[in-house]
Amino acid sequence: GLALSAAWARRPAETGAELRSEVPLPQAFSVPLPIPPVLAPVASTADGDRYELVQREVDAEILPGFATRLWTYDGVFPGPTIESRRGRHTTVLHRNELPVPTVVHLHGGRTPAASDGYPTDLVLPDGWNGHGGHSMADDRAAVANLQREYGFPLDQRAAMLWYHDHRMDFTAPAIWRGLAGIHFVRDDVEDALGLPAGDRELPLMIADRAFDADGQLAYPSVDPTLTGEHGVTEPYLAGVLGDVVLVNGAPWPVHEVDTGLYRLRILNGSNARHYELEALADDGRALPLVQIGSDQGLLAAPVRHRSVPIAPAERYDLLIDFGDLPVGAEVRLANRLGTGRTADVMQFRVVRAGERTPIPETLADDLPEWDRSAAAVVRDLAFRAGRMDDGRHGWLIDGLPFDPARPDVTARLGDIEVWRLVADVHHPIHLHLVGFRILSRGGAEPLPHDAGLKDTVALRPGESAEIITRFDGYRGRYLFHCHNAEHEDMGMMANLEIV
Ligand code: C2O
Ligand code: CU
Repeated sequence: GLALSAAWARRPAETGAELRSEVPLPQAFSVPLPIPPVLAPVASTADGDRYELVQREVDAEILPGFATRLWTYDGVFPGPTIESRRGRHTTVLHRNELPVPTVVHLHGGRTPAASDGYPTDLVLPDGWNGHGGHSMADDRAAVANLQREYGFPLDQRAAMLWYHDHRMDFTAPAIWRGLAGIHFVRDDVEDALGLPAGDRELPLMIADRAFDADGQLAYPSVDPTLTGEHGVTEPYLAGVLGDVVLVNGAPWPVHEVDTGLYRLRILNGSNARHYELEALADDGRALPLVQIGSDQGLLAAPVRHRSVPIAPAERYDLLIDFGDLPVGAEVRLANRLGTGRTADVMQFRVVRAGERTPIPETLADDLPEWDRSAAAVVRDLAFRAGRMDDGRHGWLIDGLPFDPARPDVTARLGDIEVWRLVADVHHPIHLHLVGFRILSRGGAEPLPHDAGLKDTVALRPGESAEIITRFDGYRGRYLFHCHNAEHEDMGMMANLEIV
């Protein structure tokens, strides 16, 4: 089981309580930014690439001087980055050498249902005889062969996707322990723009964690004796927050840059923490963050921001220009929503002169535009806390917790639908299989950062939003859910059946 750190501070339920680390934490901006290794295919043919990954435990040095036990894809956290071309079939064989069942989901992938990582499609580890899914029957139904091959056609726009665990009821602790990695899709539209590439394109997975007195990851236990009716400890209820901000697995790292243009591919891989990112130079200026893409790839044209809000599972594709800064300048990537040390994310240090690259004025012209009048169905869906049948607290969709046996939304292949979503507290809502456009927020125009094709929409407290999509691609059983990972585990997930 996971160790319970007793030292969590009480905060309003909306934001959740933050676990407090019990070891000395490193100074900010002292650890170099790691870049996850790119996975090499084990085989390639004219139309596809095949990869193999082993899910296994390792002891990694996250905090200097401490060995932290992690669950990893191939021994590293974040997992190795996979690079795919649009339309080239990618096959990934996952072998499970962890002590628990796992499920792999490619977030943002247009994936046939059999490879989408349904939460009960378990990959069982050697000798597993415990409860892995909803019931023992699920365990028996799973292909108990220690490994599973996932197939991804990736016939979709260039985008930053990510793969992570999706086991029913246990997604949050599995991601917390390290089961997450980046998967890029590339295409010709993107190539034609000449965007910063190579070491000028930085994948940044931001995720908060907390550490116990032994330097192990702290995570609240789920123990009914601790809180009576809730059945879970309080930090768990609202979503788990840590007091250490990791970027690519390193605490508050530093990265050396030149005075050129950089492309930041940012993923919020946190279980529950929201950030609002800004880039503050040491002369007091905020550098513009030029958004060129969102969850599902490039925008039509760049959007300049002073800061960008990023909810769990969202991605931003940003350009940042260090060209007006002198060599020696420092730029802090800060979090306006943080307090104390969570107000820092990482630092860029300008160490040499670089080339000036212009920012393209237009980007992609292949964004789907769907018209509200074309919608075959308009649905209302409410994401709110409530009581489950047994009286325990749950995070519910239209009053119900997730049940793999209950069809929730049934959509017809090819149909355009409008979904009207409403939330009680912050809920980042994610749909599998399809990207969507945000039509409105709180009854008004979407916000500037809502541009482009999304797969996760961050609903703010009490807010409603309308999204529009077309259910094309594949028939089968998919999901939609809140991507606060603890909310998801506590029931805020539903079946999306495409027929
Ligand atoms: Cu990133 Cu269903 O998840
Ligand atoms: Cu939620």
